[in-house]
Amino acid sequence: MTQQCRIALAGLGGVGRATAQLLLSRRAQYRARYGVDVLLVAACGSRAGVMDAAGLEPDRLDHLEEGLTGADFIAASEADVLIEAGPSDFRTGGPGLPYLREALAAGRDAIVISKGALVFDGRALRDLAGSSGSLLKLSGATAAALPTIDLLNHNLIGCRVLGIEGILNATTNFLLDAMIHRGLGFAEALRQAQAAGFAESDPRNDVEGWDTACKLLILANFGLGADLAIADMAVTGIDKLGEDQLRDWRDQGLAPKLIGRLWREGEGFKASVGVHAYPPSDPFALVAGKNKAIRIATDLMGEVVAMGCGSEPMATAAAALKDFEHILAIRSGHAKPYGHLPLVGGNSSS
Ligand SMILES: NC(=O)c1ccc[n+]([C@@H]2O[C@H](COP(=O)([O-])OP(=O)(O)OC[C@H]3O[C@@H](n4cnc5c(N)ncnc54)[C@H](OP(=O)(O)O)[C@@H]3O)[C@@H](O)[C@H]2O)c1
Repeated sequence: MTQQCRIALAGLGGVGRATAQLLLSRRAQYRARYGVDVLLVAACGSRAGVMDAAGLEPDRLDHLEEGLTGADFIAASEADVLIEAGPSDFRTGGPGLPYLREALAAGRDAIVISKGALVFDGRALRDLAGSSGSLLKLSGATAAALPTIDLLNHNLIGCRVLGIEGILNATTNFLLDAMIHRGLGFAEALRQAQAAGFAESDPRNDVEGWDTACKLLILANFGLGADLAIADMAVTGIDKLGEDQLRDWRDQGLAPKLIGRLWREGEGFKASVGVHAYPPSDPFALVAGKNKAIRIATDLMGEVVAMGCGSEPMATAAAALKDFEHILAIRSGHAKPYGHLPLVGGNSSS
């Protein structure tokens, strides 16, 4: 790696801007730790952007020029690393897909925050990265501040992962908590989550279980070498829970959670999303409000549980920049990359 690392950012919403702000505030830290000057050389939204080979300061992000956007714009910046923070659309791949294809084909390292492209075309993106030697990092797309993909790719490496259970969506955990412990109806709980600014105005991806399914699929495919497709997964959300069911759980002292579950079957994996109710003795029963959690069962390291959350959008920005430091460590010779896992077979054939 040269003494400079040039970054391009696609997506300037809450997460993209928080990532730019945090990245620029840490430049001295990167220089001291890795001996690298980090420059933000390009940034864009859907219609406008800004580019400067000498590096952008934070105030330049408030002065975008119409028309400076798209994968060709990012390519022209000659960035070493792309941070992709656009909207997520797993049915089409979303606007992130062309950015990622271009970056990985050109040998740029990529940090992905949106899930759409990874779900829609993950195998091809993984293959592109493998053949060009790009690093493809995706903490932001796999529950962000909650460590998930790094547990699989680093902390548990060498073990055989037997299964995963995850509370991977903050909005649904908040809603279930409010319905069980505060006795709110679904509509009022959702209204409060939207008023607090963390539930989407169109909450269907969250409450119907698709956001959880996407995160689990990315974890399986990129963390375990699986080859799952979203159509292979049985997905049920929390939108159709009846008051009787909620009352039963409440009366029995159980804590219902929207769970993404992955298990081995034959040579491959199976996955599903649905509500499970946990007794108070289970660590998942303690995952309150907007928190998330993951439990990974392994052959030799037993069960590992992580839980928590940070304040958004800075928590997701920090997770993306954790990925960036892993890239800096590898490219500056402080660490060696882990290889891309081979495919071990999808659940459709097992
Ligand atoms: N918010 C969170 O807490 C959180 C947590 C984890 C992951 N994420 C993921 O992070 C991503 C960004 O979230 P957000 O809350 O920042 O979303 P957001 O506020 O809706 O911002 C999306 C940004 O993407 C831009 N965009 C749309 N099409 C584009 C294109 N073709 N080229 C370049 N930029 C384009 C938009 O541009 P305009 O400004 O021009 O519309 C906007 O700046 C999402 O995929 C989300 O799922 C979010």
